[in-house]
Amino acid sequence: MIKLKGVHKVYSMGDVKVHALRGIDMNVKKGDFVSIMGPSGSGKSTMLHIIGVLDRQTKGSVHIKSVDVAMMSDEDRTSFRLKEIGFVFQFYSLLPELTALENIFIPNMLAGMNGKQCRKNAREMMEKLGIGERLSNYPHQLSGGEQQRVSIARALVNKPELLLADEPTASLDSKSAMNVISILRKLNEEIRQTIVLITHEQSLGALADRGIWLKDGAVEREKDF
Ligand SMILES: Nc1ncnc2c1ncn2[C@@H]1O[C@H](COP(=O)(O)OP(=O)(O)O)[C@@H](O)[C@H]1O
Ligand SMILES: [Mg+2]
Repeated sequence: MIKLKGVHKVYSMGDVKVHALRGIDMNVKKGDFVSIMGPSGSGKSTMLHIIGVLDRQTKGSVHIKSVDVAMMSDEDRTSFRLKEIGFVFQFYSLLPELTALENIFIPNMLAGMNGKQCRKNAREMMEKLGIGERLSNYPHQLSGGEQQRVSIARALVNKPELLLADEPTASLDSKSAMNVISILRKLNEEIRQTIVLITHEQSLGALADRGIWLKDGAVEREKDF
């Protein structure tokens, strides 16, 4: 599903260069649940952005579903992302003027699905994630944990092959955090959702099948849980 080989990323800001990734090799198979850990600044988000086709590597190769994504045009990368990849971020990034239901069906709409089907899908997804009672609430009327479940539902409505989550629990209390990770665990077990989760909490990361630790842009160690 994901194959990184000798991946480097150098950010250039004027004369200053930041070498964020230094030769990353990684393989993730369909149905794997992998957590990425490591200190702040170790390159975790950079790696996720490259896997998520949001950014391009400077060197090395990146294959997602056997596709060499760096070779694709920007337009093809955008439609690939919309179809194959769901994202969850720390700060939910929900649109405040839309209800939970409306936030969730945006990716369906962008993919060209008709309005009625969009609503039905979004409703089903919300029920599955235990927020079926919250359909017409606006984001500010929801707790952090509920908002994050809305953003997970939004990430999943197009049935992506790959779910990528960058510190999805960093703004949550420990109970809501555990709840969110349990949802990911369940999705992985029930529908074999392939998941890459970034977290700096070892106890949450250990709920994945495998952990990868980054340090200074390189893989420091790996462990099966
Ligand atoms: N867009 C960017 N431009 C310049 N430097 C960046 C950018 N994004 C990240 N970096 C730098 O790359 C390094 C890795 O950052 P990041 O991948 O965000 O680490 P992490 O997610 O592990 O905290 C850091 O030194 C960071 O400052
Ligand atoms: Mg980060």
